[in-house]
Amino acid sequence: MKIVNIVGARPNFMKIAPLMEAYRAHPQIEAVLVHTGQHYDERMSDLFFRQLGIPKPTINLGIGSGSHAVQTAEVMKAFERVVLDVRPDAVLVVGDVNSTIACGLVAVKLGVRLIHVEAGLRSGDRTMPEEINRILTDAISDQLFCTEQAGVDNLLREGQNPARIHLVGNVMIDTLLKNLDRAQASTILSDIGIESGDYAVLTLHRPSNVDDPAVLRGLFQAIAAIQRELPVVFPIHPRTRARFADLGMALGGSELPNVRGIDPVGYLDFLKLMAHARVVLTDSGGIQEETTILKVPCLTLRENTERPITAQVGSNRVVGTSPDRILAAFRRLMDGDGPACGTPPLWDGRAAERIVDIIAAEHAPAMAAG
Ligand code: UD1
Ligand code: UDP
Repeated sequence: MKIVNIVGARPNFMKIAPLMEAYRAHPQIEAVLVHTGQHYDERMSDLFFRQLGIPKPTINLGIGSGSHAVQTAEVMKAFERVVLDVRPDAVLVVGDVNSTIACGLVAVKLGVRLIHVEAGLRSGDRTMPEEINRILTDAISDQLFCTEQAGVDNLLREGQNPARIHLVGNVMIDTLLKNLDRAQASTILSDIGIESGDYAVLTLHRPSNVDDPAVLRGLFQAIAAIQRELPVVFPIHPRTRARFADLGMALGGSELPNVRGIDPVGYLDFLKLMAHARVVLTDSGGIQEETTILKVPCLTLRENTERPITAQVGSNRVVGTSPDRILAAFRRLMDGDGPACGTPPLWDGRAAERIVDIIAAEHAPAMAAG
């Protein structure tokens, strides 16, 4: 039984790592790894393979950046040749990036079973490119693995066959739990001169936040106030760095002296940064989940989340993008009004194991039947 597994962008690497490891308990499965090359900078890609011990991809499609249509189409053209050549029994995709839908569509059009890990998440916001990728990928998948009950409920509401849906936990948390001790050895705090518990971490990369100059300026108005109280460590996504350059915005200058803008950091350094932060401010999807497990307060700089459990039982607060609301939420935290810190069901480090067990059990009869 041959499964082609897809990675393309940064958050895919943490999700695929535990799956590649879990396949080892099933020698009847041949797991092939394909990298689309959607992300390609050393600090957005190769560094994660080394740190997380992900096997070198058998094939890198080398697609790189482009508009949505160009990037998606180029992945599809290149991946179709791979599927025709490798002839897998199934293609497994994770998350919600353009590589996810592009490879999923190629698989099903060639009659290959599609498996989606992190299925069912919905922000309800169709202006988000990821929301379109999620809806479409789920609609064409044969097996749907969910991280939280809301994902299952969304799929059922959309008419999915319940037999295809499995609530299994969160592969990104498998990776976190496996690497937390190693991350504690990171020297990032002393390297950048900050004290444990006495700084904020900021990440931004959603187009709705960084591609609109008015929204970006508003966010930085809030950050300007926050950095007067707490140093802010800001690993800058390449999309966001380009927008700063467009706007001529500088960090560390007289307006934002306490914001340390740095290049994106590796997984272990980032985990250490999150684990010791007083608060994390972000528009990332995955970071809302990681801070929930680390029990570190997270202020999500978006109007919605596709990961509601992080706000229901975890340490996440979805505060929007208006400077006043961000600052009010920040002040409440600093005044000691901390969020709930529960752990979502099944986020226990064993999601990948469950997924691969189910794939092995369900695909064997499907293959025998031809
Ligand atoms: C992509 C995903 C998003 C995910 C994010 C994770 C889509 C539609 N978006 O957004 O869901 O949250 O990855 O980080 O798939 N760039 C570089 N070097 C790189 C990669 C990108 O310089 O290694 C720059 C390029 O200028 C590129 C821009 O970043 O045009 C955006 O990259 P792209 O992959 O299109 O989208 P992301 O914003 O990274
Ligand atoms: N991350 C990292 N270095 C950074 C910023 C983030 O290793 O400088 C990790 C983070 O811990 C999480 C993942 O990247 O595992 C999240 O990716 P991102 O925010 O780019 O994408 P999203 O989750 O929003 O799709």
